[in-house]
Amino acid sequence: MTTTVLQTETPGESLQIDAAVEPLFRPLSLGSLQLPNRIVMAPMTRSMATDELVPTEATAEYYARRAAAGLLLTEATIVRADGQGYPNTPGIWNDEQVAGWSRVTRRVHEEGGRIFLQIWHVGRVSHPVYLDGGTPVAPSAVPLEGRVSRSEDLQYGTPRALRGDEIPAYIESFAEGARNARAAGFDGVEIHGANGYLIDQFLHFHTNRRTDAWGGTPAAMVRFAVDVVDSVVDAWGDAGRVGLRLSPGAYFNMEGDPRDAEVFRLLLGELSDRGLAYVHTGIFDDAMIFEELDGATAGAFLREHWNGTLIGCGNYQPETGAEAIEGGRFDALALGRSFLANPDLVAKTRVGDALRAYDASMLEDLV
Ligand SMILES: Cc1cc2nc3c(=O)[nH]c(=O)nc-3n(C[C@H](O)[C@H](O)[C@H](O)COP(=O)(O)O)c2cc1C
Repeated sequence: MTTTVLQTETPGESLQIDAAVEPLFRPLSLGSLQLPNRIVMAPMTRSMATDELVPTEATAEYYARRAAAGLLLTEATIVRADGQGYPNTPGIWNDEQVAGWSRVTRRVHEEGGRIFLQIWHVGRVSHPVYLDGGTPVAPSAVPLEGRVSRSEDLQYGTPRALRGDEIPAYIESFAEGARNARAAGFDGVEIHGANGYLIDQFLHFHTNRRTDAWGGTPAAMVRFAVDVVDSVVDAWGDAGRVGLRLSPGAYFNMEGDPRDAEVFRLLLGELSDRGLAYVHTGIFDDAMIFEELDGATAGAFLREHWNGTLIGCGNYQPETGAEAIEGGRFDALALGRSFLANPDLVAKTRVGDALRAYDASMLEDLV
């Protein structure tokens, strides 16, 4: 291993760092936060909240163990009851949930870390079993095919299209989620605008067939996302504490359309002067090429059209992510599965130790 010596903020103290990953250990200003390194824990749903959708002590310890990350992003957290689509995913709309999350932020801060809450609504990716028998809501009544995730034999179905006069309340729920996140002691929020969930459903032609003020043209299709961003920024009071995850390429729970690229170009342009902390690529494998994004990967498309900080993600290892940062492809690296498998990922990466391989059976425990 070739090492580089990195001076720390403490006078006289220095760290030996594996040269292959040194770009990950350069500090980064992210909005109004200073990150000591560029390793971000990607948001990962764990389905380990209580039946009241409250995070537990075990959740607090799980995040605290990973506090050496430059930034932790929590599992997606629903902003209202009809935003649920998976079992035992935490919420952030009532006092018990705020109290549960306060334990998490306290433990992470005790360990010297920084943590953003990922705020979420699944839209059509749900089933009446999660909604007290209700029908999932979405921009348009476009059926979703396939087996409900983490169920034996339930099938997704056709959502109910939101009426125009219902939409402002959904935007407000994201703002309320941000206010509650602040009250729970988070350092910021990441708006989950990716992976085929509600915000993303407004941004793709496959799932947005509206012809009113919220669909029909790229300008109308970006309105929900832009209004959510503005309301959340307003609720937090500092755009530098708000990030946004996006999937310009449709890859999960929806189909791509050649007109989608224009929607995302417009969205990224509209958001460019808002002072957001970052945009984050929502993808499982950033080597995936999207014809409808002019033959680019999701990460390359975002880099081209977003003028602010970009967090890259999607099947990277510390070395390949460090190379991408060195090559200017993004500014910080989010790691999901490898961080799940290695609570001590930052320490191992620093000295070039091999990481334990991820395996889906690890989802059974919060370690
Ligand atoms: C178990 C699991 C749960 C996930 N849950 C979320 C989530 O709640 N929110 C989200 O934006 N992405 C979620 N993702 C996607 C990850 O954030 C990330 O994009 C993906 O795992 C690719 O990164 P990796 O190759 O480093 O694992 C999840 C991924 C996994 C493996």
